[in-house]
Amino acid sequence: MDHVTIVEVGPRDGLQNEAQPLGVADRIGMIRALMDAGLKTIEAGSFVSPKWVPQMAGSAEVFAALPKDAGVSFPMLVPNMKGLEGALAAGVEEIAVFASASETFSQKNINCSIEESFGRFAPVLDGAKAAGMRVRGYVSCVLGCPYEGAVAVGAVVRVAARLHAMGCYEISLGDTIGVGTPRAAADMVRAVAAEVPMAALALHEHNTYGQALANILACLDAGVRVFDASVGGLGGCPYAKGATGNVATEELAYMLDGMGIETGVDIDAVCRVALDTCAKLGHAPASGVARVFAARG
Ligand code: HMG
Ligand code: MG
Repeated sequence: MDHVTIVEVGPRDGLQNEAQPLGVADRIGMIRALMDAGLKTIEAGSFVSPKWVPQMAGSAEVFAALPKDAGVSFPMLVPNMKGLEGALAAGVEEIAVFASASETFSQKNINCSIEESFGRFAPVLDGAKAAGMRVRGYVSCVLGCPYEGAVAVGAVVRVAARLHAMGCYEISLGDTIGVGTPRAAADMVRAVAAEVPMAALALHEHNTYGQALANILACLDAGVRVFDASVGGLGGCPYAKGATGNVATEELAYMLDGMGIETGVDIDAVCRVALDTCAKLGHAPASGVARVFAARG
């Protein structure tokens, strides 16, 4: 049976844009429940400025409370050396740096140009390597930018290849505002795969235009085997106007399960996390699968 890895980004991407921040204890409970649902990689938070993203304050406390011997990795977002210092002090074993294929989005999101961001990432990668940390790399706006519109595939390829050459073991290609459609998504992935091995690529789909599962299917056919998703379809970047949630973990797992592709994810258990988390956030999950689960009782 074919296998696909789902990288759960709900506790980070899912919560970073919520009007009602979830406290540390609730975030720990959410992550533990996601572990129980079979997820093996769970992005647990970010070491960014709490002035920029207050929802992720307390990420060190969240990480400290997680079991480290359960065979689950908890990558944490890190934008600069200050973030790396926080991650090192917390004993984090995996981090993720995040670049953009769009100049304007880079400025809005991390307050520097693409080139400057690589200047910040270089010592982060060196320090992480010296400490034995694994580093994942994100590229945002791979299929469009909220400020610039169309983004050239060549820009995506350059940023992805550079992150990989710097030592990122996996490059997650982010459709930050969910504007991509299947052929464009697959063409973009194939172009990146000419420079970075397909096995080192992941797709990070937001579902703003309802295209996420279609894009994932097209990229699955193109050879991608790692997909980011967020429980309950939560998510969105505070610096990407109009961006909504990631593809829902339970909807992705449902599609793959129906195709005979194994994910190790317990769909009902993920639905329970979606409903519990959304109840705390005060809104319904953006997921048909979770809604059906709730209606079944
Ligand atoms: P800056 O203002 O240029 O930073 O922000 P600075 O170095 O000039 O420092 C300014 C202040 O921030 C100082 O504090 C620093 O200590 C503090 P002050 O002296 O004013 O009290 N600071 C920090 N505090 C905590 N942790 C840090 C840190 N760095 C500086 N690491 C910075 C630059 C990157 C910090 C800022 O722009 C920031 O935090 N941005 C947040 C970016 C973010 O988290 N965006 C959402 C995640 S990305 C995303 O969602 C996309 C993704 O999902 C993929 C996709 O969908 O495409 C990954
Ligand atoms: Mg995202």
